[in-house]
Amino acid sequence: MIVFIAIIYILFMTEPIKHQGWRWDEVKDRKHWEIPDGYVMNLIYELGPDPEKKIYDLGCGIGRHTIYFASHGYQVYASDISQDSIDSTREWLQRENLTAELKQGHFLDVDYPENFFDLVISMNVLNHGVKSEVYQIMQKVLKMLKPGGIFRGTIRIKDKNTPFYSNDIKIIDEQTLMMTKGEERGIPHFFAYLEEVPDMFKGFEMGYGAFVFVKIFTSPFTAENLTTQLGIEGLRFSLSKPSLEKDIKSVQNDRNFLRAQL
Ligand SMILES: C[S@@+](CC[C@H](N)C(=O)[O-])C[C@H]1O[C@@H](n2cnc3c(N)ncnc32)[C@H](O)[C@@H]1O
Repeated sequence: MIVFIAIIYILFMTEPIKHQGWRWDEVKDRKHWEIPDGYVMNLIYELGPDPEKKIYDLGCGIGRHTIYFASHGYQVYASDISQDSIDSTREWLQRENLTAELKQGHFLDVDYPENFFDLVISMNVLNHGVKSEVYQIMQKVLKMLKPGGIFRGTIRIKDKNTPFYSNDIKIIDEQTLMMTKGEERGIPHFFAYLEEVPDMFKGFEMGYGAFVFVKIFTSPFTAENLTTQLGIEGLRFSLSKPSLEKDIKSVQNDRNFLRAQL
């Protein structure tokens, strides 16, 4: 009997996660995803008007930030795991008579040269990886950035004492779940612990203002709260790749500083 239960558990509960993109045709608030996020828009002040600057929109969705940066004259590159996202972004670019280089693929499978980008953004995307992938993509972005380049994006946060509520959710582990219904069904959702954030961003400069806590989830992790985005924005980050040798040394101090804040 125990062997039978173990086989059933292995077959049905530990199946590998199949990554898939958003089904944009089912998204109810699609209009919301067409307006650029203010946290991203203000980056053009930091970049300055320079057509040589290269920007990577990692997990571009239907293209709101790709269009925004392309319309300001930057060289834009964008990727998404969903072909639907890439097609929508391409159509929007064509309508606006703009260009960007688009690639379809999981964020770990899309490659660009080292020291290539001035800015990488990843808004509302990294929470769709599993923990090990999120750690890997941070290091990959660090390589892709030019010294002094900026990485701005979002991750989701969970406190250790609030368990996932299992209705309509498949719990993968204590930090990862998968929706079983609705437009995000089958897509993983990863929630970092605050304590692990400094290690997650190893190698980046994380000074004052590097993190914005939008809201930390304290109500139950129900499917409804998750799909309606109630209280789960988590953490917005703005980090940079050290530009000088002395900065690389100070990064360790940044991590200690941050650890003390969290
Ligand atoms: C909430 S949308 C955000 C889109 C866009 N960044 C924005 O803010 O408008 C999340 C996007 O991440 C994409 N995505 C999910 N998992 C991914 C993965 N493993 N690799 C690349 N893209 C992924 C989805 O297809 C979807 O387009």
